Amino acid sequence: MTNIRDLEQLDLQGSVPAEETEKQYYYMARARQYVKALTAQLGRTPTCCVTTFGCQMNARDSEKLVGILHHVGYEVTEDEHADFVIFNTCTVRDNANQRVYGRLGELKSYKKHNPSMKIALCGCMMQEPTVIEKLRASYRFVDLIFGTHNIFKFAELLCRTFEQQGMIIDIWKDTDQIVEDLPVERKYAFKSGINIMFGCNNFCSYCIVPYVRGRERSREPKDILREIEKLVLEGVVEIMLLGQNVNSYGKNLKEPISFAQLLREIEKIEGLKRIRFMTSHPKDLSDELIQVMKESKKICRHLHLPLQSGSTRILERMNRRYTKEQYLALAEKIRREIPDIAITTDIIVGFPGETMEDVEETIDVIRRVKYDNAFTFIYSKRTGTPAAAMENQVPEAQVKEGFDKVLKVVQDTAREQVARYQGRIAEVLVEEVNEQDDSLLTGRMSNNTLVHFPGPPELIGRIVTVSLDRCQGFYYMGQIIYKSKNLW
Ligand code: 5AD
Ligand code: SF4
Repeated sequence: MTNIRDLEQLDLQGSVPAEETEKQYYYMARARQYVKALTAQLGRTPTCCVTTFGCQMNARDSEKLVGILHHVGYEVTEDEHADFVIFNTCTVRDNANQRVYGRLGELKSYKKHNPSMKIALCGCMMQEPTVIEKLRASYRFVDLIFGTHNIFKFAELLCRTFEQQGMIIDIWKDTDQIVEDLPVERKYAFKSGINIMFGCNNFCSYCIVPYVRGRERSREPKDILREIEKLVLEGVVEIMLLGQNVNSYGKNLKEPISFAQLLREIEKIEGLKRIRFMTSHPKDLSDELIQVMKESKKICRHLHLPLQSGSTRILERMNRRYTKEQYLALAEKIRREIPDIAITTDIIVGFPGETMEDVEETIDVIRRVKYDNAFTFIYSKRTGTPAAAMENQVPEAQVKEGFDKVLKVVQDTAREQVARYQGRIAEVLVEEVNEQDDSLLTGRMSNNTLVHFPGPPELIGRIVTVSLDRCQGFYYMGQIIYKSKNLW
């Protein structure tokens, strides 16, 4: 990141700086002293592990947490037997919460064997008061709990875990702060997520996100561009712009700017090869954005456009602010303007009051839009959301029937859609060695489809041209057909 400070040069004798970024570097320097002492005590470098639950926003937050832990001297590992373990939690559906409680039980037993182990919890689930009550009562072995709004002060909280005994809880209700220039440790060298905005103002009636992530706040375009330029210099070729609703980016800035305008500026960054973004709300997707995507050489041919339901009646109860017809017209326009685009979606089955007729409406939309992929979720009641108080919660058997029906159609259409490129060639960004067969590499096409093909690991992070020989359900098997001299 820009302006990363050298912790050894910071003065720990003076007072704590007032400016937030400087303040956090001060605490990192202090934490480094504690970690040095711990290293001496253990006779080895202490390890840290950050486990992410949930979405890409959380994954990016975790990279920031790892960045700080690494910066203060921890060795990063994926093993939860580490000396400092953080669970970065999600609460969008109840099963995410249940998984966290289950995994916490395992951490408790690890801690018995490693008394210097510290356990921290953060993320969306921590913004729910009932969760905090439960942790306070039954999970006393947790050392630190913080939320989504104060994640930027992790260094300061980390120091406190060395300075004070017992459970530290620091949860904020909201914030308008965006703290720039803290360290980040990326999972991939060649691709990176970039937050362009935080929070959500939409209040879809089933969704807890606006309550746990707060109101919409956009980052200044100059900070975003500076971060991307720096990443490109470090070797990043693909970026994913992140926000709960990227189409309303920039509306509340002092000098308002549209998401499409931001994309135009990002496109100009030399050396950047691919731009992705997530998530788009259909109600805010502008013609200007379609135009920018159409003209762009870098914006990937993929749009994630959550439908949630194909029934106008249910969409209204969900407070989505579009009808079935408006969604279909939008999808048609996008397909007409950008024919090679892949459209993916999110669907909820079992929203209160949903009938099998409503499910049929959803299936109708799936058949007409022909999604390349769709994430189908069973409705989960989230306390505090308007939908939780609605009557007519759908019986489990009906939910299951609807879910299975939707899933079948989604899979059939996706298989058909993905197969439409068989026999063609495509540019593929090589991401990793194939998990099942290490003679193969795995990469992604611009439209996000996975391709597996033989090749050496040195190609990871490069864009290669691949023949799409065989479609196997949702991915391709292929061969590299273009080898420029400096590729091998
Ligand atoms: N129940 C089920 N799915 C939900 N989502 C959000 N809230 C809920 C809920 N209460 C889904 C939506 C959203 C995705 C990120 O999670 O489909 O687009
Ligand atoms: Fe939740 Fe709706 Fe905001 Fe998405 S747009 S985060 S579904 S409230």
